[in-house]
Amino acid sequence: MNANLLVLSPLDSSFQADSFSSGEQVIDRQLRDYLAFPPNPELIDVTVAAYPADDEVQGYMALRLALRLNYGQLPKALGIPFDQKMEPALEVAFLGVTQAWRGKGLGRRLLGTAWALGKEAGFRILTLSALNDRLIQYYTSLGFVRVGYSMRMIARIQ
Ligand SMILES: CC(C)(COP(=O)(O)OP(=O)(O)OC[C@H]1O[C@@H](n2cnc3c(N)ncnc32)[C@H](O)[C@@H]1OP(=O)(O)O)[C@@H](O)C(=O)NCCC(=O)NCCS
Repeated sequence: MNANLLVLSPLDSSFQADSFSSGEQVIDRQLRDYLAFPPNPELIDVTVAAYPADDEVQGYMALRLALRLNYGQLPKALGIPFDQKMEPALEVAFLGVTQAWRGKGLGRRLLGTAWALGKEAGFRILTLSALNDRLIQYYTSLGFVRVGYSMRMIARIQ
Protein backbone atom coordinates (compact mmCIF):
# COMPACT_ATOMS: atom_id res chain seq x y z
CA MET A 1 0.00 0.00 0.00
CA ASN A 2 1.18 3.47 -0.76
CA ALA A 3 0.45 5.21 2.54
CA ASN A 4 0.47 8.58 0.81
CA LEU A 5 -2.67 7.61 -1.06
CA LEU A 6 -4.59 6.97 2.14
CA VAL A 7 -7.04 9.72 3.03
CA LEU A 8 -8.82 9.72 6.36
CA SER A 9 -11.74 12.09 6.42
CA PRO A 10 -15.35 12.38 7.59
CA LEU A 11 -17.61 9.94 5.82
CA ASP A 12 -19.22 11.57 2.80
CA SER A 13 -22.97 11.96 3.29
CA SER A 14 -23.61 10.46 -0.15
CA PHE A 15 -21.88 7.22 0.92
CA GLN A 16 -24.06 4.14 0.34
CA ALA A 17 -23.57 1.76 3.24
CA ASP A 18 -24.84 -1.10 1.09
CA SER A 19 -21.78 -0.76 -1.14
CA PHE A 20 -19.44 -1.63 1.74
CA SER A 21 -18.74 -4.96 3.39
CA SER A 22 -16.25 -5.73 6.14
CA GLY A 23 -17.22 -9.39 5.99
CA GLU A 24 -18.79 -9.11 9.48
CA GLN A 25 -22.56 -8.74 9.21
CA VAL A 26 -22.91 -7.40 12.74
CA ILE A 27 -20.48 -4.59 12.06
CA ASP A 28 -21.92 -3.73 8.65
CA ARG A 29 -25.42 -3.56 10.12
CA GLN A 30 -24.14 -1.11 12.74
CA LEU A 31 -22.92 1.17 9.94
CA ARG A 32 -26.28 0.99 8.13
CA ASP A 33 -28.23 1.70 11.35
CA TYR A 34 -25.89 4.54 12.16
CA LEU A 35 -26.40 6.18 8.78
CA ALA A 36 -30.17 5.57 8.85
CA PHE A 37 -30.61 7.11 12.31
CA PRO A 38 -28.25 10.04 12.73
CA PRO A 39 -26.87 10.31 16.25
CA ASN A 40 -27.66 12.95 18.83
CA PRO A 41 -25.58 15.93 17.69
CA GLU A 42 -24.96 16.94 21.30
CA LEU A 43 -22.82 13.89 21.76
CA ILE A 44 -19.40 13.75 20.22
CA ASP A 45 -19.89 11.70 17.14
CA VAL A 46 -17.39 11.42 14.35
CA THR A 47 -17.27 8.97 11.52
CA VAL A 48 -13.91 8.63 9.87
CA ALA A 49 -13.59 6.94 6.51
CA ALA A 50 -10.44 5.61 4.87
CA TYR A 51 -10.09 6.07 1.14
CA PRO A 52 -6.85 4.36 0.13
CA ALA A 53 -7.47 4.35 -3.62
CA ASP A 54 -9.95 5.37 -6.30
CA ASP A 55 -12.06 7.39 -3.87
CA GLU A 56 -13.65 4.17 -2.65
CA VAL A 57 -14.30 3.76 1.06
CA GLN A 58 -12.26 0.77 2.23
CA GLY A 59 -12.53 1.32 5.95
CA TYR A 60 -14.52 3.31 8.44
CA MET A 61 -14.74 3.99 12.12
CA ALA A 62 -17.28 5.82 14.25
CA LEU A 63 -16.35 7.52 17.50
CA ARG A 64 -18.69 8.60 20.24
CA LEU A 65 -18.71 9.73 23.82
CA ALA A 66 -18.96 6.76 26.18
CA LEU A 67 -21.02 7.79 29.17
CA ARG A 68 -21.21 4.92 31.59
CA LEU A 69 -18.11 2.90 32.18
CA ASN A 70 -17.50 1.56 35.64
CA TYR A 71 -14.03 2.81 36.35
CA GLY A 72 -13.98 1.02 39.68
CA GLN A 73 -13.12 -2.03 37.59
CA LEU A 74 -10.45 -0.43 35.47
CA PRO A 75 -7.40 -2.62 34.90
CA LYS A 76 -4.56 -1.54 37.17
CA ALA A 77 -2.21 -1.96 34.22
CA LEU A 78 -3.45 1.35 32.88
CA GLY A 79 -1.95 3.13 35.85
CA ILE A 80 -4.42 5.97 35.82
CA PRO A 81 -5.48 7.55 39.08
CA PHE A 82 -9.17 8.37 39.00
CA ASP A 83 -10.71 11.06 41.14
CA GLN A 84 -14.22 10.08 40.28
CA LYS A 85 -15.98 6.83 39.54
CA MET A 86 -17.17 7.86 36.14
CA GLU A 87 -15.07 9.67 33.63
CA PRO A 88 -15.96 10.51 30.04
CA ALA A 89 -14.19 8.28 27.58
CA LEU A 90 -14.00 8.23 23.82
CA GLU A 91 -15.49 5.05 22.40
CA VAL A 92 -14.84 3.41 19.07
CA ALA A 93 -18.45 2.53 18.28
CA PHE A 94 -17.55 0.46 15.26
CA LEU A 95 -14.66 -0.20 12.95
CA GLY A 96 -14.53 -2.06 9.67
CA VAL A 97 -12.17 -2.63 6.76
CA THR A 98 -13.09 -4.35 3.48
CA GLN A 99 -11.66 -7.83 3.02
CA ALA A 100 -9.59 -6.68 0.06
CA TRP A 101 -7.76 -4.22 2.33
CA ARG A 102 -7.31 -6.41 5.41
CA GLY A 103 -3.92 -6.61 7.02
CA LYS A 104 -2.56 -3.48 5.30
CA GLY A 105 -2.62 -1.27 8.34
CA LEU A 106 -5.89 0.52 7.65
CA GLY A 107 -7.47 -0.58 10.95
CA ARG A 108 -4.37 0.47 12.85
CA ARG A 109 -4.36 3.86 11.16
CA LEU A 110 -8.03 4.42 11.86
CA LEU A 111 -7.44 3.64 15.53
CA GLY A 112 -4.43 5.94 15.49
CA THR A 113 -6.78 8.67 14.34
CA ALA A 114 -9.10 7.87 17.25
CA TRP A 115 -6.14 8.30 19.60
CA ALA A 116 -5.20 11.63 18.05
CA LEU A 117 -8.75 12.99 18.09
CA GLY A 118 -9.25 11.80 21.67
CA LYS A 119 -6.05 13.47 22.78
CA GLU A 120 -6.97 16.69 21.06
CA ALA A 121 -10.38 16.65 22.77
CA GLY A 122 -8.81 16.05 26.20
CA PHE A 123 -9.90 12.45 26.82
CA ARG A 124 -7.71 10.19 28.96
CA ILE A 125 -9.37 6.97 27.87
CA LEU A 126 -10.19 5.27 24.59
CA THR A 127 -12.51 2.27 24.80
CA LEU A 128 -14.14 -0.31 22.55
CA SER A 129 -15.88 -3.63 22.70
CA ALA A 130 -14.07 -6.44 20.87
CA LEU A 131 -16.15 -8.76 18.74
CA ASN A 132 -14.20 -11.96 19.41
CA ASP A 133 -11.01 -13.44 20.87
CA ARG A 134 -8.95 -12.86 17.73
CA LEU A 135 -9.77 -9.18 17.95
CA ILE A 136 -8.90 -9.14 21.65
CA GLN A 137 -5.39 -10.14 20.58
CA TYR A 138 -5.34 -7.56 17.82
CA TYR A 139 -6.39 -4.71 20.10
CA THR A 140 -4.00 -5.90 22.83
CA SER A 141 -1.16 -5.61 20.31
CA LEU A 142 -2.24 -2.01 19.77
CA GLY A 143 -2.15 -1.14 23.47
CA PHE A 144 -5.65 -1.92 24.73
CA VAL A 145 -6.18 -3.72 28.02
CA ARG A 146 -9.11 -6.02 28.64
CA VAL A 147 -11.51 -5.21 31.51
CA GLY A 148 -11.74 -8.46 33.49
CA TYR A 149 -13.01 -11.26 31.29
CA SER A 150 -15.38 -9.01 29.38
CA MET A 151 -14.99 -7.93 25.77
CA ARG A 152 -14.64 -4.31 26.91
CA MET A 153 -11.16 -2.94 26.26
CA ILE A 154 -9.56 0.27 27.37
CA ALA A 155 -6.47 2.17 26.32
CA ARG A 156 -4.84 5.13 27.89
CA ILE A 157 -4.71 8.15 25.63
CA GLN A 158 -2.76 10.43 27.93
C1 LIG B 1 -10.65 -5.61 12.70
C2 LIG B 1 -10.31 -4.91 11.40
C3 LIG B 1 -10.97 -3.58 11.36
C4 LIG B 1 -8.77 -4.74 11.33
O1 LIG B 1 -8.48 -3.99 10.16
P1 LIG B 1 -7.11 -4.18 9.33
O2 LIG B 1 -6.95 -3.00 8.45
O3 LIG B 1 -7.08 -5.50 8.69
O4 LIG B 1 -6.05 -4.09 10.50
P2 LIG B 1 -4.47 -3.97 10.43
O5 LIG B 1 -3.99 -4.06 9.01
O6 LIG B 1 -4.11 -2.79 11.22
O7 LIG B 1 -3.98 -5.23 11.24
C5 LIG B 1 -4.50 -6.48 10.90
C6 LIG B 1 -4.04 -7.54 11.81
O8 LIG B 1 -4.72 -8.69 11.39
C7 LIG B 1 -3.80 -9.67 10.90
N1 LIG B 1 -4.00 -9.89 9.47
C8 LIG B 1 -3.09 -9.81 8.51
N2 LIG B 1 -3.60 -10.14 7.34
C9 LIG B 1 -4.89 -10.42 7.55
C10 LIG B 1 -5.95 -10.80 6.72
N3 LIG B 1 -5.81 -11.01 5.40
N4 LIG B 1 -7.16 -10.96 7.28
C11 LIG B 1 -7.33 -10.78 8.58
N5 LIG B 1 -6.36 -10.39 9.43
C12 LIG B 1 -5.14 -10.24 8.91
C13 LIG B 1 -2.43 -9.23 11.15
O9 LIG B 1 -1.93 -10.14 12.10
C14 LIG B 1 -2.57 -7.82 11.70
O10 LIG B 1 -2.06 -7.76 12.96
P3 LIG B 1 -0.56 -7.20 13.14
O11 LIG B 1 -0.54 -5.80 12.60
O12 LIG B 1 -0.34 -7.24 14.63
O13 LIG B 1 0.31 -8.12 12.38
C15 LIG B 1 -10.74 -5.77 10.20
O14 LIG B 1 -10.21 -7.07 10.34
C16 LIG B 1 -12.27 -5.88 10.00
O15 LIG B 1 -12.89 -5.03 9.42
N6 LIG B 1 -12.88 -6.97 10.49
C17 LIG B 1 -14.32 -7.20 10.31
C18 LIG B 1 -15.14 -6.24 11.13
C19 LIG B 1 -14.74 -6.28 12.59
O16 LIG B 1 -14.60 -7.33 13.16
N7 LIG B 1 -14.58 -5.11 13.18
C20 LIG B 1 -14.15 -4.94 14.55
C21 LIG B 1 -15.25 -5.17 15.53
S1 LIG B 1 -14.68 -5.06 17.21
